[in-house]
Amino acid sequence: PDVPQRALTGDLPAESTVEELLQAAHARYAPLGEGEVADYIPALAEADPALFGLALTEVDGTQHLAGDTSAPFTIQSISKAFVLALVLEAIGHEEVHRIVGVNNTGLPFNSVIALELNAGSPMNPMVNAGAIATTALMPGADAEQRWQGVHEGLSRFAGRSLEIDERVLRSESASNHRNRGIASLLASYERLRGDAPEMVEVYTRQCSLLVTAEDLAVMGATLADGGLNPVTGEQVVSAEVCRDTLAVLAACGMYELSGEWQFEIGLPAKSGVSGGIVAVAPGKGALGVFSPPLDRAGNSVRGQRACAHLARTLGLNLF
Ligand code: DON
Repeated sequence: PDVPQRALTGDLPAESTVEELLQAAHARYAPLGEGEVADYIPALAEADPALFGLALTEVDGTQHLAGDTSAPFTIQSISKAFVLALVLEAIGHEEVHRIVGVNNTGLPFNSVIALELNAGSPMNPMVNAGAIATTALMPGADAEQRWQGVHEGLSRFAGRSLEIDERVLRSESASNHRNRGIASLLASYERLRGDAPEMVEVYTRQCSLLVTAEDLAVMGATLADGGLNPVTGEQVVSAEVCRDTLAVLAACGMYELSGEWQFEIGLPAKSGVSGGIVAVAPGKGALGVFSPPLDRAGNSVRGQRACAHLARTLGLNLF
């Protein structure tokens, strides 16, 4: 965007300035009509393309809100970032590196050929294959215990008990042939720690948890704050886990467009097909954005523009 980059300092601007900048970014991108609402999960096609929320949570717990920040939507792929953090906490840096990997595939989030090209390695925990493999690494004797760990862990990041959107869950469960294929292929390479259909079920449930832009900002700010939720004061994961998670988000969070995202915005981030984005400024806070129309890689169009604008005006860019 044609706004100057604020000098990069350790701090955000004064609170009143942050508030104004958030409102200005909202007003500027609300009229944008580009992008398409996801429809490969039938229930997502009904989303209102006009909804647009921008939230910022600072590491001291201060929150700034503009637009539809309390509109609920399913977290979808953004869950992958927080399940990765929970699994890193449970099994550690080395095991995640060895079993799942941390490099970008350069291919779409639901690619099957990426698995075949890489000897069955999912490559990273942000694509569907890697996320299903990561969910299967959650501690627990069975699928139900893994699900409980995911549900409780994501709720601790948000600072409230998250609920499932049963309609979206049913709709995705009835149409997710591709994810079931991916899980079976992972199993054929002996890279899935669990029963393939059960692990897809847990993964699909985690994607169906309802959040708001405000929740995403709190969840991201927890990663920005070394694992301490700045609103509840709870230590959710360790600082080391946050460092590892943010590194993976920087390289893989926006899929095959992660390089362009870093070039334009310069922050670890994760998108989801219902139109959410969380972008994390370590030591400062996080942006939570919601706007359903997506680009070809499955990233919110308004969300990206607003993040690019705010990264400049708030001086968030890491580089
Ligand atoms: O597995 C899927 O296809 C969806 N539950 C999540 C995909 C997603 O959010 C991709 N991100 N933009």
